[in-house]
Amino acid sequence: MLKLRRLISSDASVFQALRLAGLQESPLAFGSSYEEEKDLPLSTVEDRLAARPDRGVFGAFINNELSGIVALGRENKHKLAHKALIWGLYVTPQARARGLARALLQEAIALAQATKDIQQINLSVNAGNGAAIALYQSLNFKSFGHEPNALLVDGEFHDEVHMYLPLNKV
Ligand SMILES: CC(C)(COP(=O)(O)OP(=O)(O)OC[C@H]1O[C@@H](n2cnc3c(N)ncnc32)[C@H](O)[C@@H]1OP(=O)(O)O)[C@@H](O)C(=O)NCCC(=O)NCCS
Repeated sequence: MLKLRRLISSDASVFQALRLAGLQESPLAFGSSYEEEKDLPLSTVEDRLAARPDRGVFGAFINNELSGIVALGRENKHKLAHKALIWGLYVTPQARARGLARALLQEAIALAQATKDIQQINLSVNAGNGAAIALYQSLNFKSFGHEPNALLVDGEFHDEVHMYLPLNKV
């Protein structure tokens, strides 16, 4: 049975286990790394998950097992705060191709839609990640730039595509 919900501080351990699994399994998909996050104190992770009205982490559970995650963040500076950002999208290999990532992104987009003053959602994706780019395009994200050598992973450079979703609020 599939269930989607906002994660809360008490989900910190399971969230962090899946986050670290993703960073290990798909190092090219993320700006962060396993090495940087493996020793994060649980309190830091709890803080990441603490309830805030305009940002949050969503989880997809299959038979009560956390199988996918995505986060909606927001810029803090006044002149940038109309922008939210998607980060950390990851679905376990066993749970893929069942619509989890799409459903998670729809939850994150709905939160941004519901937050007055958020006008657009930005994200960055490895230019070689065709699956993720196709998913974002299908949700109407538009590419606005291609950054050469955006990531340096194990001595190799990788380009990123920057995308945004205008929310068309008045
Ligand atoms: C990319 C990822 C999140 C997709 O998760 P998923 O749950 O399998 O995706 P969904 O089942 O919701 O698929 C949604 C859409 O994604 C695209 N997609 C997913 N897998 C794909 C693949 N292997 N090839 C091409 N397109 C693919 C399709 O557009 C698909 O829509 P469709 O089913 O209508 O064709 C998952 O493969 C993953 O976690 N990869 C490693 C981490 C990663 O790349 N994260 C993204 C960081 S920007």
